[in-house]
Amino acid sequence: MSKRKLPPNASVATEGDGSKLVAPAASRNTVVLCDLLARVAPSSGQALELASGTGQHISAFAQRMPGLHWQPSEVTSERRASIDAYTKGLPNTAAAAHLDATAEGWHKTMAQQDLVLLINLLHLISLPEAETLVAEAACALKTDGRLVLYGPFKRDGHLTSDGDQRFHDALVQQDPEIGYKDDTHILSMLKDNALELVEIVKMPANNLAFVAQKTGI
Ligand SMILES: C[S@@+](CC[C@H](N)C(=O)[O-])C[C@H]1O[C@@H](n2cnc3c(N)ncnc32)[C@H](O)[C@@H]1O
Repeated sequence: MSKRKLPPNASVATEGDGSKLVAPAASRNTVVLCDLLARVAPSSGQALELASGTGQHISAFAQRMPGLHWQPSEVTSERRASIDAYTKGLPNTAAAAHLDATAEGWHKTMAQQDLVLLINLLHLISLPEAETLVAEAACALKTDGRLVLYGPFKRDGHLTSDGDQRFHDALVQQDPEIGYKDDTHILSMLKDNALELVEIVKMPANNLAFVAQKTGI
């Protein structure tokens, strides 16, 4: 389970067929995320998704990018069951691993990744937890491996839409340690961990995707 107390709209998933859960946000953004990854992800190798949620995303990614071998992961057992229901029968996807992306040391069990992917978690954890997550992801990557971080962010300290202001306020009201992270903090975290920024992609719904590559030093 998430360690954080979240407002009801922060991580919505309803019951689908069997163990499958359906997250409306994932239903909306799967295609644009597939298009992004098809452009920026390595074409082959090992891909780790942190906080995979329902599994809707990774089952679509695995089908769109068959050259990658996909490892989903989650803290919540109900969600791991949902992920496995979505990925059942896909030849290039492993069973969902139990992984707390904010725990120190997880990279040791997930080494040599060509891609590490995180969608919509950074605003639901604290800044120190986000720093640990990025440091662990950097350690898990091979040289030249890529990190993709997607979600809602402040720009230079500012919330840039009414919807973002409302969502950030609701998060902070539930837990003062969480909320939107600043784009400048993300850039510092990447630099601190020998991750070179490749690009920042403006995504629908005022979200951003940071694409970074692990350097050889
Ligand atoms: C907003 S949902 C996003 C899920 C999925 N990435 C998506 O975009 O549909 C956040 C997810 O992070 C998971 N989560 C929360 N804290 C986590 C942690 N410390 N490590 C890994 N997963 C976590 C929750 O169980 C939830 O499935």
